[in-house]
Amino acid sequence: MDLVVKNGTIVTATESYRADIGISGETIALIKPDLSGDESLDATGMLVMPGGVDPHTHMELPLAGTVSADDFRTGTIASACGGTTTIIDFAIPGAGQTLRQALDIRLRQAEGKACVDYGLHMAMGTVSDDRLAEMDDMVSSGVPSFKLFMAYKGSLMVDDEALFRALLQAKTVGGLIAVHAENGDMLHSLITKYVAEGRKEPVWHALSHPPEAEAEATQRAVLLAGMSGAPLYVVHMSTAGALEALKAGRAKGLKVYGETCPQYLMLSREKYEEPNFEGAKYVMSPPLREKEDSEVLWKGLAGGDIAAVGTDHCPFNFVGQKDLGREDFSKIPNGMPGVETRLPLLYHFGVKAGRFSINRFVELVSTGPARLFGLLPRKGTIGLGADADLVIWDPKREHRLTKENLHMNVDYSPYEDVTVRGYPAMVLQRGKVLVRDNQFVGKVGAGQFLKRNPIHL
Ligand code: URP
Ligand code: ZN
Ligand code: ZN
Repeated sequence: MDLVVKNGTIVTATESYRADIGISGETIALIKPDLSGDESLDATGMLVMPGGVDPHTHMELPLAGTVSADDFRTGTIASACGGTTTIIDFAIPGAGQTLRQALDIRLRQAEGKACVDYGLHMAMGTVSDDRLAEMDDMVSSGVPSFKLFMAYKGSLMVDDEALFRALLQAKTVGGLIAVHAENGDMLHSLITKYVAEGRKEPVWHALSHPPEAEAEATQRAVLLAGMSGAPLYVVHMSTAGALEALKAGRAKGLKVYGETCPQYLMLSREKYEEPNFEGAKYVMSPPLREKEDSEVLWKGLAGGDIAAVGTDHCPFNFVGQKDLGREDFSKIPNGMPGVETRLPLLYHFGVKAGRFSINRFVELVSTGPARLFGLLPRKGTIGLGADADLVIWDPKREHRLTKENLHMNVDYSPYEDVTVRGYPAMVLQRGKVLVRDNQFVGKVGAGQFLKRNPIHL
């Protein structure tokens, strides 16, 4: 063995047990007690888990006249420091661009910068015969998931026919459709009305994105998925009504899967009332909801109705970016930082708070997303032949989630007052140490593009 991780407790989505992990080159070659190798890492008292898989990030995303503040370098350093060794970001075709062109452009942006392994979803704002025909080529190129937006009228929004056609095509080619489910027509009409009335403050963002608009669109997407016979992944679910719609589909046996994000579990609507425009820090779509919604989402995670936790990491600086919307809430760039804090928050407020088991935690932050998006068993688990992407997790380590203690390239932390217990002591990717004691020690650009498998759920 080139490297042995010794004396830890291995935790996967299904079991926890004591054994050493032998790594040969980049992969796991042996799992048994009392291994030895050229080098060893002592994990006494630690949990050894598969590296996190974040299925939803937006590095350097152009939005609302600016670009999200983390690029592939800074965002993936932060991701590694928080225990996430794989991200799935997005390629978004510009007007008139083919999917292939968009993919090539995005691959060039990540190349040489990404510090963890990464896959890409393909966004589809236009669903023409030509674009549909390209989906097969995307699947063969390792991009088997496609994101469609039911919101963002006038830019990315697609209508029901487009969504339905994409679902049918995805089923044929081994793809998975992911949807941003909010009723874009309704949002557009409320935003237009409030702007015309001169409403300015961030709270109007929340008021123009009512929970019913998300519940309705989720129900519609679930029904369309059912009629098409294709599976569906609903991203960033924030509200009890949306989860109800998903559950109704699941109860009928539909292959519909939900994602939520830590912000919808941790934070609620009052944040928009913060003075001095501070509410803008939490402007995203869907917006933060009521505390009751968060409780319902936690239960959905524990009970199995929500399949994955992503972050929708899309940070904008408070000064210089969020303030583009000081005079008009509709111009506040949508998004929040989160790629670094997903595992610590879910561990502390999920596992330590007794909401679900450590194995369910691994399922939600790693194995589940890897399975859904065609990465298992290479990523998302600890097994023979898997990439040696490991988080050596110190269950006693305390960490306050202040801006200074984090690596995301943004001028605020949404969790300034939160101290978690349980944090990565060390993070490995493909057998190399990436993070030690909250310091990135890996190589910039060593992250590899992951050609994912076709998806047949
Ligand atoms: O507000 C958000 N969610 N920004 C990122 C883009 C998206 O809709 O996922
Ligand atoms: Zn979205
Ligand atoms: Zn997103």
